Amino acid sequence: MKKLVYIILIGLLISCKNKEEYKEPTEVNETSAQNPENLGKEIFEGKGVCYTCHKPEIKTVGPSIKDIAKLYKEKGGSIVNFLQEKSEPIVDPSQYATMKTNFAITKNLPKEELKALEAYMLSFSK
Ligand code: HEC
Repeated sequence: MKKLVYIILIGLLISCKNKEEYKEPTEVNETSAQNPENLGKEIFEGKGVCYTCHKPEIKTVGPSIKDIAKLYKEKGGSIVNFLQEKSEPIVDPSQYATMKTNFAITKNLPKEELKALEAYMLSFSK
C-alpha cells in the first residue's frame, strides 16, 4: 500500500514538472513576438525608465504619452528614428536637452525593442 502512494506521488511530481517546462517558453514568445505593445510597455516601465518622465495622460517632466502619440501620428514621424538620434524633436524642442540624456539607453536597444516602444506609445492615440 505504501509503495502505491509513493508511485502516485512521484507520478504527480513528474506531471507537474512537465507542465511547467511546456508552458514557459510559449508564454515568453507570445508576448514578445505577437504583441509588441506588451513588450514596449515592459521596456517603458522597466529598463527604459521612460515612465519617470512620461505619464499616459498628463504632462510631467516630459510630454504625456498621449500628446506624443497624437503628434507623431499626425505628422507621420518615426519614434524609432528619434530614439536613435536620427531625427529632430517635434513635440517640445525647447526641452530636448532633457530627453537627449536617454539616448545613452535607447541607442543600445535592438531595433525590435525600439519598434516595440514605438508601438506601445502610439497605442495611446487610437
Ligand atoms: C529625464 C526625463 C525623461 C525620461 C527618463 C525620458 N524622457 Fe522622453 N522626453 C522628455 C522631455 C523633457 C521631452 C520633451 C523634449 C522633446 O520633445 O524632445 C521628451 C520627449 C520625448 C519624445 C518626443 C520627441 C519629439 O519628437 O519631440 C519621445 C518619443 C520620448 N520622449 C520617448 C521617450 C522614451 C521611449 C523614453 C525611455 C527610453 C523616454 N522618453 C524617457 C523627458 C524624458
